[in-house]
Amino acid sequence: MSTREQSKVSVPIAFAHRLLAPRLVCLIGSCSSTKERTWNVAPFSNVVVVSNVPQRVGIAIYKEGTTYNNILALSEFTINMPDDSLIEELWLAGHNYNQLQYPRDLGKMDLLRLTSTAATSISVPVVTECFATLECRLIASYDLGDHQFFVGDVLYASLRADLQSPDWRLPLNRILPVLQNSGNQLALPTATRDLSTEQFQQELNSRVKARRASF
Ligand SMILES: Cc1cc2nc3c(=O)[nH]c(=O)nc-3n(C[C@H](O)[C@H](O)[C@H](O)COP(=O)(O)O)c2cc1C
Repeated sequence: MSTREQSKVSVPIAFAHRLLAPRLVCLIGSCSSTKERTWNVAPFSNVVVVSNVPQRVGIAIYKEGTTYNNILALSEFTINMPDDSLIEELWLAGHNYNQLQYPRDLGKMDLLRLTSTAATSISVPVVTECFATLECRLIASYDLGDHQFFVGDVLYASLRADLQSPDWRLPLNRILPVLQNSGNQLALPTATRDLSTEQFQQELNSRVKARRASF
């Protein structure tokens, strides 16, 4: 049996989302709308680009927790990209998800080894230790089930200077963004494959020739 003909099993619908994996893990930064503007950071992997012109991104956030409430209240958030050196911090920041018990007198932001730097375009700060950040303003919010889908305009983007390349593509031989396979299994990108249009045009031409010859 060729690999394309392998038999398939039916996946319980409740687990279908686990097949959309691995997904990039981002640290979403947000602030309370109170006078103190308390800063909060939490990991999210349901993050997607929804428009290039204008630059817009979407995040699906479970309808409870600090990030959800902060984004609704202040309409601003940062999407920060951690690399593999921040796996401990991102896992500790996902306390509702992985059932970590923080004491009453010390919240997660007291214990996380993450620091903030003022953003360029919004009042929510950037996670200093992350290698890239998108600063976003909420433009739409959709109630789509147990998650809320927030869409934000990207107002400003920044990248660690040593990772800059002429086409702004991440140099994956020098930085490892973190992916979530599912649940408590994270993954790191281990290989890249560069595709050339010239090579694919040759492949396409030979298929066209073979198909025409078969008529
Ligand atoms: C790797 C990882 C990815 C996650 N992705 C999402 C997600 O896409 N959407 C979501 O609602 N929660 C997600 N979570 C769970 C939140 O991070 C978790 O509920 C967190 O405690 C929310 O914190 P907050 O109350 O400070 O907002 C994820 C957790 C981890 C560890």
